[in-house]
Amino acid sequence: MIPDEVVEQVSQQADIVAIIGEHVKLKKTGSVWRGPCPFHQGKGPNFSVVPGRGYTCFVCGEKGSVFTFLQKRLGMSFVDAVKLAGAKAGIEVQEVQRRREGPDPREPLWELQAATSEFFQKTLWDAPQGSAARDYLASRDVSRDLATRFGLGFASRDGEALRTYLHGLGYDDARLTAAGLYLPLEGSDQLKARFRDRLIFPILDQSGHTVGFGGRLLGPGEPKYLNSAESEVFNKGKLLYHLGAARNAIRKDDRVVIVEGYFDALRLVSVGVEGVVAPMGTALTDAQAELLGRFTRQVVLCYDSDGPGQKATFRAADLLLAKGFVVRVVTLPEGEDPDTFARSQGGAAVSRLLDEAMDVFDRKVQLLERAGWFADLQHKRQALDRLLPTIRAASDPVTRDLYLARAAEAAGVAREALVAELHAVRRGSGPRAAVQRPSRGDATAPDAYGGGPGAAPTRDALPTGPYRSGVEQGNAEQVLLRVVLTQPMWRDHVIEELGKLEESERPASVDFGGDETDGFGESASLALRDPVYGMIYRALLMVGEALSAEAIAEHLDPLAIRVYEELRADPQAVVDARASVADALRQLRGRSVDARLRALESLLPLADAAEKDALTLQIKRLADEKRSLGVQHWGMVRRSR
Ligand code: GTP
Ligand code: MN
Repeated sequence: MIPDEVVEQVSQQADIVAIIGEHVKLKKTGSVWRGPCPFHQGKGPNFSVVPGRGYTCFVCGEKGSVFTFLQKRLGMSFVDAVKLAGAKAGIEVQEVQRRREGPDPREPLWELQAATSEFFQKTLWDAPQGSAARDYLASRDVSRDLATRFGLGFASRDGEALRTYLHGLGYDDARLTAAGLYLPLEGSDQLKARFRDRLIFPILDQSGHTVGFGGRLLGPGEPKYLNSAESEVFNKGKLLYHLGAARNAIRKDDRVVIVEGYFDALRLVSVGVEGVVAPMGTALTDAQAELLGRFTRQVVLCYDSDGPGQKATFRAADLLLAKGFVVRVVTLPEGEDPDTFARSQGGAAVSRLLDEAMDVFDRKVQLLERAGWFADLQHKRQALDRLLPTIRAASDPVTRDLYLARAAEAAGVAREALVAELHAVRRGSGPRAAVQRPSRGDATAPDAYGGGPGAAPTRDALPTGPYRSGVEQGNAEQVLLRVVLTQPMWRDHVIEELGKLEESERPASVDFGGDETDGFGESASLALRDPVYGMIYRALLMVGEALSAEAIAEHLDPLAIRVYEELRADPQAVVDARASVADALRQLRGRSVDARLRALESLLPLADAAEKDALTLQIKRLADEKRSLGVQHWGMVRRSR
């Protein structure tokens, strides 16, 4: 057999047009290649090939991937088809020997999980302890049929019955604890069951092995769900709930619906949507996307309508786009999740919603449009800054082109202007970007959170020696923070001035549900751009002049704690506070004017003639302001000497 990753790689890199073109005379029309169908010996151009997707004949209905084409046309095996396509793409494809010496070593673990699952099911339906869970299911409108289809079960409060049952099957306590089903209770031979008093969703891998469980409390409480611990067979980031049962439907529909919750998946199946999967309560991962890619390239995201749901939607979408998927999104009415919606509106309404699902990019544009983000230049700039990453993420060139055209149209700017932006090195544009990338376009500039060469110490590595900020004007920031921490006299003045600076730079935010601030979180400061100084300053503003031990632990990371102590340690470090503060503030003002200048300049390519005139004027004013700051600066230095 050939490892899945290799198949995936070949499928992504093989030139399907060239390969099929050896057998069919193809002509490019738009983004699609067409020719006569070799399968029904057609004459018209009804056979189409779409790079990244596959081929289809509109007359005879033949369709498939580059591999199926080779298999069918040349009568090859799948393995040979992959090898041939791989050779053409310059990828070495090697078969690996499926380990045939004995059964899969994971077999016993799967069996133990399956036996446990069976016991949970028996408890749910046959045991007196299961009655609360049966009532719960009834109250949520889950029929016995449906529950059985998903293998739902119940773990009672007392884990002893399961333990006895598993002992009877020959599993000893060591096996039970190793499988994570029980925990040893210290100082006794008692074991504590992991799942107690929970409705159980068995979790199967895509081949149908039972690998673990998700357990839901029947009432309020925390945590609402408890999953099996990570193990050799249970890896949350690589599993998709319900994929094993859904894979045929996904292939057949050539589409997968992704929902957030176990209950959502169950409910959609109950109204006839079988090709549905859910991640395991975490954000979608690369591994999960790749797994799905074996079955389809079309995804419909159907997440909760709340803020976090929307945020998760766009995150998952960018990841999927980067892997070449076509991504559409369903927008549920306010306050609904797929479960509640399907339950109250029924299957027809769900089908309609899925069919009407909007391309994720159109949805983003729509949200921005509705919020008026294309109405004026400033917002337009920010709107495009939100859209460009998604365009960049799209790995499929056809999709990318489409997105570019849509963005240009929505924003009313020339497509070429956007193309230029797309290819530009990620340079700062707008005040926020300036916060994260102090010196734009400079590859050696430190990222606000470390990374680049010469970067400020990151949160992960705690270097020794005094902290050295990597941002421009880091020293000025340090002086101001020191003063705030050690010189009560100057404290209010500095805070007030920094507040003014911050106000002048605060960008309006684009709302995609959650905050898409990319690391620009509560701990960041617009006035102090050094991530560590910013974190300390934010904490101070939030908590008050002195940070208690608890506040320190809550708001500061280890590096910030160390720097905090360092800055506080020497009240005499800033000698001439008046002059130092004035000078530091001037430096930060200069930097701020610079950032605003850059932001205005970044608007130029989007501006029409009238807007350009106004912009040029504003830019000139800022440039004057900058110059006047510079003059004062020199005057100041002379005076202090
Ligand atoms: P209901 O609230 O019963 O409708 O369940 P749901 O499946 O709709 O869950 P929800 O939308 O609240 O959360 C989505 C998914 O996130 C769940 O299916 C779980 O996989 C996961 N999840 C939710 N809460 C928790 C939790 O407290 N702990 C863990 N580990 N996962 C959770
Ligand atoms: Mn729910």
